[in-house]
Formats: sequence, C-alpha cells, structure tokens
Amino acid sequence: MSQEQWKSKIGFIFAAAGSAIGLGAIWKFPYIAGTGGGGAFFLIFLFFTVLLGAPLLLGEFVVGRRAQSDAVTAYKKFAPNSSWSLIGKLGIVTCFILLSFYSVVGGWIIIYLFEAIRGGLNGLSQDQYGALFGELIAKPWSTLLAQLVFMLMAIVVVAKGVQKGIEKASKIMIPALFILFLILVIRSVTLDQSIEGIEFLLVPDFTKLTSESILLALGQAFFTLSLGVSVMVTYASYLPKTQNLPFSAISIIVINILVALLAGLAIFPGVFSFGMEPDAGPVLIFAVLPAVFSQMQFGVIFFINFLLLFLFAALTSAFSMLEIFVAATTKHDKTKRKKRAWTLGLLIFVLGIPSCLSYGVLSDVLVFDKTIFDLFDFTVSNVLMPLGALLISIFVPLKISKSALYEEISLGSKSGKMFFNVWYYLLKYVTPIAIVIVFLDVLGFLDKMISLFK
Ligand code: PHE
Repeated sequence: MSQEQWKSKIGFIFAAAGSAIGLGAIWKFPYIAGTGGGGAFFLIFLFFTVLLGAPLLLGEFVVGRRAQSDAVTAYKKFAPNSSWSLIGKLGIVTCFILLSFYSVVGGWIIIYLFEAIRGGLNGLSQDQYGALFGELIAKPWSTLLAQLVFMLMAIVVVAKGVQKGIEKASKIMIPALFILFLILVIRSVTLDQSIEGIEFLLVPDFTKLTSESILLALGQAFFTLSLGVSVMVTYASYLPKTQNLPFSAISIIVINILVALLAGLAIFPGVFSFGMEPDAGPVLIFAVLPAVFSQMQFGVIFFINFLLLFLFAALTSAFSMLEIFVAATTKHDKTKRKKRAWTLGLLIFVLGIPSCLSYGVLSDVLVFDKTIFDLFDFTVSNVLMPLGALLISIFVPLKISKSALYEEISLGSKSGKMFFNVWYYLLKYVTPIAIVIVFLDVLGFLDKMISLFK
C-alpha cells in the first residue's frame, strides 16, 4: 500500500507548525509567563526550546522520514522483535487523552465566539467577565455541544486525508493566523501605556524566577512543539527524501517562538494598559482578555479576531493528535481512513465528556485531589509527554546507527558534519539528562542554583 505524501515542502512546514502552535503557545504560555516572571520566563523558555526542543524535533523527523511509516511501525523497523514500539503506542494513548480534554477548551473557544458575535460580551465589569466564564463553562449541554462541534471539525479534515485535508486546511489556517495576530499586535502595542506590558514580556527580571517556573518552562518547550508523542514522527513519515529536515525543524522552532512572542505582545500591553493583573492564571484569556478588549474601541471585533486565530491554532493541533491514531490503525490503507477518523474521533469525544463536565456537574469529583480535567492534563503534560520524550532521546542514538542518522539528515540538506555532531550529542546526552531532572523534580537543587544568581 503506498504511503500518502505532503504535496509541497511548505505544506509540511505549515502542518507541523500547525501542530506545534496551539493552546500551548496561545493559552498556556501567556498565563504561565504571567505568573512565572514575564521576560525571565520567556528567556528560559527560549533557551530550552533551542537547546532541548530543537534536537528532539529533528530526532522525531529523522525517525519518521527514514521509516516512512506510522508511529508504531516506525520504531519496529529500527528495533524488530523488541519492546521499543511501545514508544509509538505510548504516544497514541497520550494523544488520545490529550485530545479528549484539548477539545473541551476548543469548545470554550467556540462558545466565546458565539457569545461575542451575539453581543453577550459587551459592557460587563471586570468581575462580571470572570463570573460569566465560570457560568459558561459550567453549563453541561452547551459545553458538550461545542466540544462535539470542535471534534467534528477535526474529524472532517483528517478524514479527507493528508494532502486534501490536513495540508490544505493548514495552508489556509496558519497564514490566516499570522495575519489575525498582526492586526491584534498592532492594536495592542499602540495602546497608551502599552510599554509596561512590552517590558513585562521582554525585559527579564531574574529575581522573579522560581524553580517551579523553570520546570514549567521546560515542560512548555516540549508541549508547544508537540514532542514526545510521535506526532512529528507521523507527520515526517509523509515526507519525500528531498525535504531539508534541519531547515524544516529550524523553521518550525522559529515560527513557534514567534507565535509565543506575538501572543505575549497581543495580551500583556492591554492587560497593563487597563490596569489588570498579568498573573490571573488559566483564566487569563477567557476572563481577563474580554475585559481588556471591552475597553477598546471596536474591542468586540478585535476579540472575535483573537478567538478565530485561537480556534485555528487549536484545530491544527487537533488534526495532528487525531492523525497519529488514524495513521497507526489504517497502516496506509486509504480506504479505511474515513471510517477510522470518524470512529476514533467520536470515541475521543466520549472520553472527553467527564473532563468537560468537571467544570460543572462533576466539579466535586476529585481524584488525587484534582478534577478529572486537571488530572488528565497533569498526567499528559507532566508524566506521559516527558516520558515519551525521554524514551525517544534514548532510542534514536541507541537504535539507529550514527552513519544512518547522518545520511538521513544530509538528504536534501547541506548541513555539515559539525551541525550533525552538535545535534547528535545534544540529543544523546543533554536532552535525556534535562528530562530526568524535571522528572525527579529536584526542586531543592534548582532553588540553590537560582539563589546563586540572586
Ligand atoms: N503543541 C500543541 C499545543 O501547543 C499540543 C500538542 C501536543 C499537539 C502534542 C500535539 C501533540 O497546543
């Protein structure tokens, strides 16, 4: 059975960047930067993205393109008759759980879009916006319906296939996202007193850093690049040998950093200009941002603009989470794609129901002191994704020979031996060690390190 392929080089970059850009960059990044020290946090995030994220991203690309097969089969090809294909299975399970609660937030975006268009977000006080958010996400039927609509959008695109579905949609949504972002950032940085917000994001104040924010920055770097779950392996398996892998990886890193920067620039100047606090946490976008926009002329239009770009970002990530599953279960049999996308997508929706209701009727159900949504989020972001990332960084140098890796990286690219060596040793030593540090949560050690700089 012949493997599907991306139609164009740029199509792959848009699709992979689309997977990367999502709730991580637009929702999580501003609020954890807001609570974790602004500019200093941003710098640490940059550092981890370049030093650890980039090598792993390229590693996943190499595995995928060399194997030309889905996430589970790919690992089997390099290590037959071993348990290494568990990495692929782990990635699938992780994406399954991740998409189940990711779609809940996708649903919230749709609800807010609906509210903004129907005029329900006009002229409230700051507290009322907060209360409204709590009310809206507690309603069981509308949130479930919105979550279902979000999943249906993802299913329809993935069912159409790699070229006609994912690539086509990403080629429209990602450039649109940038245009919408630019409009918003221009509005935001031209507000009176926007400079305070810009400074907050760009001028590092290291005394504000805590060990926790350093760990969050590392987790964030992996999460926003969709690493550790073999999504990037799957996407790279649709690549021809002519694609320049290092260039693709670097482009995606740059795009992703740019989006985090744009998100910060779109949000913080407004937050500061209107005298609000940057450290509201997860509700920053839904409870604080509408209040910020409501103070501007034509604010509703800007807010709708923001929600649209947010929806595009979330959808292009959802495609990749569903695709890894579809790819692994159809094994290139195109006739099965449609049916699998629908069954798996709807199954994920069903799994997501408890997460959705955990903000309303199930809010009292706590497991290990966490709501179902938080438990899923914690398990995925802090356990399963770092575990997957650790295993991949061990697998690549261990199971694929150095010469094969060099050959794969050199195909379609002119990057020399030195580039290769830097990549290889970062992936072999630095990435796994850094992940283990996060795993062990050696807070005491990190705290000591930080105090040296204070
Ligand atoms: N990178 C996505 C985001 O930032 C999340 C994601 C993780 C997507 C893993 C796919 C796989 O929102």
